[in-house]
Amino acid sequence: MMRDAVQFEPADSRVTRPSFWSSLPERWTSDVEETLVCCHVRQETHDVKSFFFHSPDGRAFVFEPGQFITLELEIEGETINRCYTISSSPARPHTLSITVKRVPGGKVSNWLHDNMRPGTPIRVLGPAGEFTCARHPARKYLFLSAGSGITPLMSMSRAHHDLGEDRDIVFVHSARTPDDIIFSRELDLIASNHANFRTSFVCESVGARTSWPGVTGFLSLPLLKLIAPDFMEREIFTCGPAPYMKAVRDLLDEGGFDRRRYHEESFSFETLTADGAADAPAPDTDVASAPNGIADMAAFSVSFAKSRREIVCSSGQHVLEAARQSGVRLPASCTQGMCGTCKVKLVSGQVEMKHNGGIRQREIDQGMVLLCCSKPLSDLVIDK
Ligand SMILES: Cc1cc2nc3c(=O)[nH]c(=O)nc-3n(C[C@H](O)[C@H](O)[C@H](O)COP(=O)(O)OP(=O)(O)OC[C@H]3O[C@@H](n4cnc5c(N)ncnc54)[C@H](O)[C@@H]3O)c2cc1C
Ligand code: FES
Repeated sequence: MMRDAVQFEPADSRVTRPSFWSSLPERWTSDVEETLVCCHVRQETHDVKSFFFHSPDGRAFVFEPGQFITLELEIEGETINRCYTISSSPARPHTLSITVKRVPGGKVSNWLHDNMRPGTPIRVLGPAGEFTCARHPARKYLFLSAGSGITPLMSMSRAHHDLGEDRDIVFVHSARTPDDIIFSRELDLIASNHANFRTSFVCESVGARTSWPGVTGFLSLPLLKLIAPDFMEREIFTCGPAPYMKAVRDLLDEGGFDRRRYHEESFSFETLTADGAADAPAPDTDVASAPNGIADMAAFSVSFAKSRREIVCSSGQHVLEAARQSGVRLPASCTQGMCGTCKVKLVSGQVEMKHNGGIRQREIDQGMVLLCCSKPLSDLVIDK
């Protein structure tokens, strides 16, 4: 099957879509569920590892740089989904890698660090996501990342390097300390191979080192102007924790940057907070005192059978958002109905669910729902 043509408006009218993307042989989509096998594990920093996988039937992986896959694991009898960006280059299609940071107390990141080794099989849903420079061709890019948010931008940089594209890229990565910079040697190598690829690392502190030739502190507008004086001419891709991305948006707004050329992806749990939704007042337990804007909506009770918690969710609110506002912590990853992390069994009640491929029809038929994109149509009981 040939890849469908993707229609889009080039961000820079002088640039046409590189032929590589339009001539990819076979589409690998998020509907495809298969077992891959780990073939290599690489320690990147003290708390970050890359895991390399191949397909046992030897087929090549086709994806756009910046896209993510969804892993499906069985941990302690529970099926858990998590998204991880493909950190490898689509121009090296025979293996793919993900690069995972240990999250304290996190189920999947720690399981991968402690258990995934060459020969381990893993269930994977194919690539999804629109955070990719392949859909926004431009002559000049600015990549801004922090922490493990480096992974999609690394895949884009590796693709740029492998394909020898004529692009001008400035890559500014923020990390806690110099020892926390993921891929620093490889980024230096790419920069030494391409005159028009520049990197800058910004570290909060020097950490255990006595000296550090790079910048310490946080990314700010004056610093960005020093690193990339022409940043206003660039197509910007940003990925990192929610507070970092908010800081980036604020400084770009301060500089008057055109948001239409700004693209971001968050890995973090706190996306709702970043967008302001979780900062909104929590719904009251009584409809009459519901927050402004939802006063005329119905309010339903949502009971979590296992944890014995009960919250109120308005008909206009996603259940995940209402749960978080009420202090009920639930697993979630993309918050956009794509990854399946927030999948639960609905014991009773009805929801309106608008998902983006994170759940299959057979699961819906079995009464499963995604809480991040489901609004209640009645009182609900959830098996959680
Ligand atoms: C599109 C996308 C791409 C991503 N790409 C990457 C990537 O390339 N690399 C990467 O490292 N990560 C990536 N992530 C993040 C990744 O999906 C996981 O969210 C991350 O690894 C944490 O998962 P976990 O299972 O280890 O943690 P979780 O078990 O989900 O826990 C996360 C945090 O919440 C806390 N927590 C969990 N449950 C509770 C509870 N009941 N009460 C209180 N606290 C709780 C944990 O202690 C922990 O601090 C991506 C996410 C998305 C959405
Ligand atoms: S959090 Fe990804 S589908 Fe709900």
